[in-house]
Amino acid sequence: MNQQSASLLVRLLHRGCLIALIVGYAPSGWTFPWDKDMVDQAPIKAQEAPRPGDTGAVPVNGGETLPAPTTEEGMLAAKEAAASLANPFPASRESIQIGGNLYEVNCRVCHGRGGQGDGSVGLKFATKAPVNLNEAYTQDQPDGEIFFTLTRGRGLMPLYRDALSAAERWHVINYVKTQFGEQ
Ligand code: HEC
Repeated sequence: MNQQSASLLVRLLHRGCLIALIVGYAPSGWTFPWDKDMVDQAPIKAQEAPRPGDTGAVPVNGGETLPAPTTEEGMLAAKEAAASLANPFPASRESIQIGGNLYEVNCRVCHGRGGQGDGSVGLKFATKAPVNLNEAYTQDQPDGEIFFTLTRGRGLMPLYRDALSAAERWHVINYVKTQFGEQ
């Protein structure tokens, strides 16, 4: 503060002109406490990954918080833990019909029309063929475990977290559980 402005300040204070003081000094570099400069922020640069969600954030449609472990053991443990998830949709005719349509579009290419793992794409799998969904291995699994597989994928099987909503995944499970199996 130079001498001139200091003496002005003293004069203003003497007169009790607090408002004049604030208004008069703000343009000379001072900012009001409620001023927020746009430069004072962490902008996302071009090509930078989007900022991760807040740790306390809750997904608006729920059910999407299943963990995504990176090891085989972690996947198996998470799949087992998912067994406690209950299918919110009873296997009604409507649910099975929705699930059937979704199965045709999303699963049939690999698992085949009858779920035997003999879809046209599935037949080309050299290392591990798509599972025969009629076998006890799948049929005996709690719905929650299959939900985990559809949400996170498994081996060469893609994940369906993005392609199918949580509700759609449960409908597909109703279809797989009621239409396939050793009859
Ligand atoms: C691109 C081919 C492909 C598609 C599409 C596909 N799967 Fe699979 N699926 C596989 C393969 C391969 C496996 C065996 C994975 C492994 O164990 O490595 C598998 C395994 C499974 C299993 C058994 C998982 C376990 O517990 O080990 C289930 C259940 C299943 N698929 C259901 C589905 C359903 C339902 C869909 C449709 C939403 C679907 N799959 C779509 C290839 C596919």
